Amino acid sequence: MTQTYKIGVLPGDGTGPEVIAEGLKVLNTAARKTGFDYELVHYDFGGERYLKTGETLPDSAVEEMRQLDATYLGAIGHPEVKPGVLEKNILLKLRFSLDLYINLRPIKLYPGVQTPLKDKGPVEIDFDVVRENTEGLYAGAGGFLKKGTSDEIAIQESVNTHKGVERCLRFAFERCRGRRRKKLTLCGKTNVLTYAFDLWQRVFNKLAAEYPDVETDYAHVDAICMWMVKNPEWFDVIVTDNMFGDIITDLGAMIQGGMGIAAGGNINPQGTAMFEPIGGSAPKYTGKNVINPLAAIMAGQMMLSHLGQPVAAELVERAVMQTIENDLQSMSAGKMGMGTTEVGDRVAAHLEDL
Ligand code: IPM
Ligand code: MN
Repeated sequence: MTQTYKIGVLPGDGTGPEVIAEGLKVLNTAARKTGFDYELVHYDFGGERYLKTGETLPDSAVEEMRQLDATYLGAIGHPEVKPGVLEKNILLKLRFSLDLYINLRPIKLYPGVQTPLKDKGPVEIDFDVVRENTEGLYAGAGGFLKKGTSDEIAIQESVNTHKGVERCLRFAFERCRGRRRKKLTLCGKTNVLTYAFDLWQRVFNKLAAEYPDVETDYAHVDAICMWMVKNPEWFDVIVTDNMFGDIITDLGAMIQGGMGIAAGGNINPQGTAMFEPIGGSAPKYTGKNVINPLAAIMAGQMMLSHLGQPVAAELVERAVMQTIENDLQSMSAGKMGMGTTEVGDRVAAHLEDL
């Protein structure tokens, strides 16, 4: 009996719907080609719905998504909605409520993609960032005192639990085991954040003893930023907390060719997961058929891998590589040499021929 995956689709705002449509095109081809079934559950949450109804993401939808195999998200963010409302009440609510404690972001430069790094290519730029996704500065701990006065105090605390740190590090060690080089770098700030990263470092060292086949290393976050530019080949898997992971993965997206190709997975290894292109809603490109859908297609590719369809995942990656090598002039919106829908068509066609 073949399994039928239940996949939530939340296209969201801006260019989200355009890129998700292309991702679904490729998913459909992959399913037909490799023989798995899926059912889509559509959600219209996002800025438009919030402006019309005041609703962001109801608890009932979260409970539904908890039962799904995965959710495929386009983008959240609307120029007419105050910053923070949609991010907190949709994206972060999903991550926290579904306990999607891993944010996995592959930084992989494909042949034919331009990187701003001189003398670096696909051999040098190929690593994963494992970002803790439910704690740290994102936990929302802190508050104001004497708000609005000149004596105001604003405190934002980083929450790091032993359990939260350990499960994130364990995922990173396991991920590393599946890679060729098997080198795991802890990214922290042990010279200043002497409580939080003391915990990270101790748990890291404890787990390292359980994974003697994994080479371990440590670097401060500021140095990581420097080395990601200067010597990206030093990295195989980087593991870090929520805030540092947020920052270094935008740097990573740039060295892998930009937001047109960068994808991420929000994963609970024991539960459900959510996959998204990391570029945002790009209002100025909305509705013009110019945005690059490859990031969304690669998010779909990560979803296939997570769902246990490694053959489909591999074929989609190869089809994307062929599209980059044979068809695309650039990764940037409006400069691809074809429109959003044509890029999706090309990937699907290459996939069909593999
Ligand atoms: C990301 C984004 C989010 C984050 C924002 C939109 C809340 O930047 O997914 O990296 O900070 O995690
Ligand atoms: Mn970010």
